Parts: sequence; C-alpha cells; structure tokens
Amino acid sequence: MRTKTLLVFLIAVFFITAIGVAIENKGERTKELFGGDRGNVSFPHHLHQDKLGGCNTCHSVFPRTHGSIGDMKKKGTLKPKEVMNKQCIKCHRAEKKAGRKSGPLTCSKCHVK
Ligand code: HEC
Ligand code: HEC
Ligand code: HEC
Repeated sequence: MRTKTLLVFLIAVFFITAIGVAIENKGERTKELFGGDRGNVSFPHHLHQDKLGGCNTCHSVFPRTHGSIGDMKKKGTLKPKEVMNKQCIKCHRAEKKAGRKSGPLTCSKCHVK
C-alpha cells in the first residue's frame, strides 16, 4: 500500500515538472535592445538559449522581464554598457579566443542605426 502511494506521488511529481518545463516562458525570439546614439541592437535571444543552455548566464544580472535592463539603468542598479561589456562582448571575446564560433565584437556589427 505504501509503495503504491509513493509511486502515484512520484508520477504526479514527474508530470508537474514536465509541464513546468514545457511552459517555461522563453521570452521573445529576437529582442530589440536600446543602444543609445549608436543605434539599437538586435539580439537573437532564442539562439543564445539554445547555444548556452542555462538562462542565468545572463539573467543572474537582470530579471526575465521585458525592459528589465532599461528599468535597472533608470534605477542606477546597472550602468549603461554594463551588460554589453560584461556579458555580450566578454563572452564573445572568450569564445573567439577559444577558437569557437562566436558573436560580433565591433560596434557596427551589433548596433544598427
Ligand atoms: C545571452 C543572454 C541571455 C540568455 C542566456 C537568456 N536571456 Fe532571456 N533575456 C535576455 C535579454 C537581453 C532580455 C531583454 C531584457 C530587456 O528587455 O531589457 C531577456 C528577456 C527575457 C524575458 C522577458 C520577456 C522578453 O522577451 O522581453 C524572458 C521571459 C526571458 N528572457 C527568458 C529566458 C529564459 C527562459 C532563458 C533560458 C532558457 C533565457 N531568457 C536566457 C538575455 C538572455
Ligand atoms: C556584442 C554586441 C555589442 C557590441 C560589439 C557593442 N555593443 Fe554597445 N550595446 C550593446 C547592448 C546589448 C547594449 C544595451 C545594454 C547595455 O547598455 O549594456 C549596448 C549599449 C550601448 C550604448 C548605450 C548605453 C546607454 O544605456 O546609454 C552605447 C552608447 C554603446 N552601446 C556603444 C557601443 C560602442 C561605441 C561600441 C564599440 C566600441 C559598442 N557599443 C559595441 C551591444 C553591443
Ligand atoms: C555566455 C556567452 C554569450 C553571451 C553572454 C552573449 N553571447 Fe552572443 N553569441 C555567443 C555565441 C557562442 C554565439 C555564436 C552562436 C552560433 O551562431 O553558433 C553568439 C552569437 C551572437 C550573434 C550573432 C548571431 C548570428 O546569427 O550569427 C549576435 C548578434 C550576438 N551574439 C549578440 C549578443 C548580444 C547583444 C549579447 C548581450 C545582450 C550577447 N550576444 C551575449 C555567446 C554569447
């Protein structure tokens, strides 16, 4: 009897977890990020999710909400270009150095007027 209850419990946990993973909000496929007078940046969000796996590589710094980078800059909890330098460019440089396929490193390859 006890093992049967446990089994039903484990199956329930499995399905709830599976549904949770399936409906995880991945946000927009491509994001248009504010880039000041250099012009905005078109960011392939889902491509990075597929390549990098984890979400917290980026979202440990800013939350998973629309416009969160702008909100934090306004509050002063994030400096202008902080995400750009400490995340985007830092990672692209490291990937390139390691000889792997990487993203852009020059201004005009990210910023489009
Ligand atoms: C390489 C960096 C990076 C990774 C990795 C990443 N995100 Fe994002 N995410 C962003 C950026 C940039 C924004 C836009 C924030 C803003 O609008 O200021 C964002 C916004 C979001 C939003 C808000 C809705 C939207 O589209 O604006 C959600 C939800 C989200 N991400 C979910 C995820 C999930 C789930 C994962 C992992 C599977 C993930 N992100 C991985 C960079 C990333
Ligand atoms: C890998 C892509 C990438 C490259 C390369 C890049 N940027 Fe950015 N830049 C961004 C992103 C994303 C933002 C918005 C997030 C932030 O402010 O950190 C941004 C923001 C900015 C801003 C606006 C900051 C604000 O909030 O007012 C300026 C100005 C800027 N970049 C200038 C430059 C210049 C100059 C270069 C070349 C030396 C450059 N960027 C290279 C992605 C990039
Ligand atoms: C932790 C590592 C990492 C971070 C952080 C990261 N990138 Fe990338 N990015 C990559 C890698 C790896 C690729 C190459 C993906 C591929 O095509 O295989 C890439 C590719 C790109 C490309 C080219 C996509 C294409 O179609 O060729 C753009 C544009 C880009 N990144 C912009 C950004 C911007 C803007 C940010 C910051 C908001 C950012 N990336 C943050 C690792 C990263």
